[in-house]
Amino acid sequence: MNRTLKTAILAVATMGFVAAPVFADKAAEKAIGARKAQMQLYAFNISHLGAMAKGEVDYDAAAASAAANNLAALAALNGMAMWPQGTDSTAMPGKTRAKVEAWTTWPKIGEASAAMKKASADLALVAGDGLDALRGGIGDVGKSCGGCHKPFRDEE
Ligand code: HEC
Repeated sequence: MNRTLKTAILAVATMGFVAAPVFADKAAEKAIGARKAQMQLYAFNISHLGAMAKGEVDYDAAAASAAANNLAALAALNGMAMWPQGTDSTAMPGKTRAKVEAWTTWPKIGEASAAMKKASADLALVAGDGLDALRGGIGDVGKSCGGCHKPFRDEE
């Protein structure tokens, strides 16, 4: 075989070996970034509701309804692609706080996710009906966040 061709084939083959893990790593980091973004949107929306429930800002039916609907919509996203195997904090320390137990005890995290889905859908139905209704429903949503963070998220 012509020497230049041989070198070129070798170069391409090596690139393949090197590029594959780098690509996998990038994909993993994108997935982690996406789920963190979803969590940030949860936090943003629930903090509005929490401020109203605590009386720190005036209750506003339209704003409460919007934030609760956002939470319910976010919770209804299909998150499968955002939680690929191997993207836990044991495998990728410093990149994520998702405990490996999220995968090893599957489908437990799915139950925690379903609890949040239900609590936020329930809240969305009543959040615009007055401060008492908001106060009555927000606790279950907050509990559902903690119900997943405690077993499946590392402390900071
Ligand atoms: C089904 C499990 C689950 C539910 C429900 C859940 N979380 Fe999380 N949350 C996690 C996990 C796991 C992480 C760590 C993600 C990572 O670092 O990859 C996380 C991370 C976060 C973060 C940090 C994001 C970042 O940028 O690092 C915030 C903020 C957060 N959650 C808020 C909330 C709020 C608010 C709720 C409820 C409205 C909620 N989460 C519901 C599992 C959950």
